[in-house]
Amino acid sequence: MAESFNDLIEAAIIATKNSYSPYSHFSVGAALLSRDGKIYTGCNVESVSFPVGICAEQSALAAAVNDGKRKFTAIAIYSDSGVTPCGKCRQALAEFGDMWVITIDSKGVKKDLTLSKLLPDAFNKI
Ligand code: THU
Repeated sequence: MAESFNDLIEAAIIATKNSYSPYSHFSVGAALLSRDGKIYTGCNVESVSFPVGICAEQSALAAAVNDGKRKFTAIAIYSDSGVTPCGKCRQALAEFGDMWVITIDSKGVKKDLTLSKLLPDAFNKI
């Protein structure tokens, strides 16, 4: 990976602070970098009706698409244990093509992945 994405990682860490996760007590923050260099952040937003909750990655994706962005270079995801995106988020992100996926945990351990590695042979009607 050519870039270090330090600003993106920092944005994901900051986004985690807004996590609304009173049921799981598992805070997640995500920061998505559009190809034109803007950063869009999101956190997980839970609901008393559990399936209604949304993940941090989908929050960030919605923010970016709402601002007219459809091409992305990378997404950084912060959580205490450094989770990779869930299956639903992988599919949601894959809608917009491949990108770097960087996960970070509370000890600062990073994983550099790609979406195509996390979701090989993704569903696509075309
Ligand atoms: N969560 C995310 O925000 N992103 C993921 O990739 C995995 C899980 C959230 C959903 C829920 O609010 C909490 O983490 C526990 O599963």
